[in-house]
Amino acid sequence: MTVIAIESSAHTLGVGICDNGKILANSKQMCKISKGIIPGKTSDFHSKNITKVIKNALAQAEITKDTIDAVGYTKGPGIGPCLRVGQLAARDLANELNVPLFPVNHAIAHVEITKHLFKCEDPLVLYVSGGNSQILALDKQPYLHYRVYGETFDIGIGNMLDNFAREAKMKPAWGSTVDKIASGGKYIEMPYSVKGMDFTFAGLLTHATEMLNKHNLSDVSYSLQQTSFAMLCESVERALLLTERKALVLSGGVAQSLKLQEMLQKMLAPHNAKLFVAPNEFNADNGAMISLVAEKMFKAGLRFKMETCDIDQRYRIDKVRIAW
Ligand code: FE2
Repeated sequence: MTVIAIESSAHTLGVGICDNGKILANSKQMCKISKGIIPGKTSDFHSKNITKVIKNALAQAEITKDTIDAVGYTKGPGIGPCLRVGQLAARDLANELNVPLFPVNHAIAHVEITKHLFKCEDPLVLYVSGGNSQILALDKQPYLHYRVYGETFDIGIGNMLDNFAREAKMKPAWGSTVDKIASGGKYIEMPYSVKGMDFTFAGLLTHATEMLNKHNLSDVSYSLQQTSFAMLCESVERALLLTERKALVLSGGVAQSLKLQEMLQKMLAPHNAKLFVAPNEFNADNGAMISLVAEKMFKAGLRFKMETCDIDQRYRIDKVRIAW
């Protein structure tokens, strides 16, 4: 069966196609942002480009529209006007082809694609992106769902790094620029805030930004990165022991950080636990991961009335019943 899906939750517009778990296409266009995402401007970009990105995906998959069995889209979480473009385009396509429509949780898609690529069944998950930072694992009670074991009390780690990079007048892509500038830096003490398996980043961001006036950029970047990643490592280690998992999936945009991967590997080694990280193409926002989950929903027998297929900017991962 062939499933096409649209991802439009933030500045990336992606269209993916999969066929029984095999990814046939993962086409994307990114709206350039210099001062953070401006919802109106980004959703305009998505509206202008959606037809082209769908066409590109179909060409990449070497299929025509009439072979599509289902359509998926990102329901949330994400930026309302951006999500709306994907939802409307997906609904129109499903109506035109007379096939079922599947609203997909963006966070679940980030997790499921890595599990799928590595055939990793029941891992602990660290999901780190712009707006989200969560420690997750499947839980059967009261029904099968991703339980949030720990999360940020304020901003996501990706937004924290991006905000810092903008304050420091770095150029996009901010996260990877911080990664580069941090190497070779020296450690300055920063506020470290972990509460059980939860953590906060806002105070750390304020402190690091103030430190820019007193210390060199490389030292502040290094210290910010070390501190925030160490907070994640401590929380994940606690969750690993609590849940008795032997595998950790690292997913989401910030999963691309080699420094974070290296620090997690070091933490996992004494526990004989393995780290699984998808190639960057699938950790950055993409349509392929949405199509994979839409296909799982289809095969599990879920069906949705068109009029109930809406968007939800704050669609939490732990709200979703896993049916596969
Ligand atoms: Fe994402």
